[in-house]
Amino acid sequence: MKKVLIAGGTGFIGQKLEDHLLAKGYEVKILTRKPVKNNHVFWNPATQQMDTAQCSDTQILINLCGENLNAKRWTRKQKQLLIDSRVQTTRLLYELCGAFEHLEHYVTASGITAYGFDDGKQKHPETDPYGSDFLSQLVKEWEQAADLFASGCRVTKLRIAVVFEKGYGALQKMSAPIRLGAGAPLGTGKQQIPWVHSTDLVRLVEFAIANELEGTYNTNAGNVSNKELTTFLAASLNKKLWLPNIPAFVLKIVLGDMAEMVVCGAKASHEKIIRKGFVFNHSSIPDLLR
Ligand SMILES: NC(=O)c1ccc[n+]([C@@H]2O[C@H](COP(=O)([O-])OP(=O)(O)OC[C@H]3O[C@@H](n4cnc5c(N)ncnc54)[C@H](OP(=O)(O)O)[C@@H]3O)[C@@H](O)[C@H]2O)c1
Repeated sequence: MKKVLIAGGTGFIGQKLEDHLLAKGYEVKILTRKPVKNNHVFWNPATQQMDTAQCSDTQILINLCGENLNAKRWTRKQKQLLIDSRVQTTRLLYELCGAFEHLEHYVTASGITAYGFDDGKQKHPETDPYGSDFLSQLVKEWEQAADLFASGCRVTKLRIAVVFEKGYGALQKMSAPIRLGAGAPLGTGKQQIPWVHSTDLVRLVEFAIANELEGTYNTNAGNVSNKELTTFLAASLNKKLWLPNIPAFVLKIVLGDMAEMVVCGAKASHEKIIRKGFVFNHSSIPDLLR
């Protein structure tokens, strides 16, 4: 029974991953700032504290920490928090856990937004360079910090795609105006969204552990344009789309710099993880929405 510690494991992905790993027979502990359960281990990155005695037998460390990208407008202060909650927490984890005697594998969440934004004509493999926008540079710093662990154990960087789940995240946010009859594609509607269903994502994390994968992997089951997804959602909800696209400048006024997340996008290639033998259970959006 492998001993797993998930930093940031109280979040959306972490809770699903915990259930999946427990069902697969792993022993799972969660590193959190607010411990409430028996398997929770306290830490506080702000004060550099951690109850290391509770987790020094960790073999697999998974890092899902990070302030939610959608939580607040991206002021300069908020952008710094988005970076620090990923990069500084990774560095602190390395200082506090990097020398754990039994540590074999460090797996970190990273972002599929690594490649910047383009016309969506080509799918980016993991070897493509980082983009120059805020999210790409955040991913670059996050992954460079993760590489600190490479001196002592395997390192896997999973570039997490936009997670689809009924009533959650992008699907929930896009469905709400469509249900009210006010749905419309955003910006040009051509921007690409690399996506993955939550159940496939947690299977993929376990696959990376079980198969001792190293390196960087895109985790998307597919890519869909904003317009296609809006159309699929409207069809699945039996609603008509009658409004014109919402112009990018309007979104920029409403969302500020955060508009980058909805009006820009790039396709990602999942060939590398497929070649390793991983099979996505959900790769058709109409089937998934049905
Ligand atoms: N969900 C997606 O669609 C998606 C897509 C791409 C990448 N990702 C990345 O995958 C990771 C997990 O995503 P998620 O959706 O599960 O996120 P989430 O629900 O927001 O959970 C993130 C967890 O990180 C911890 N955290 C937040 N701010 C922190 C801080 N300042 N210092 C230390 N810990 C902090 C929290 O744990 P405690 O409060 O218990 O300490 C929280 O439960 C994130 O890094 C996210 O950026 C997610």
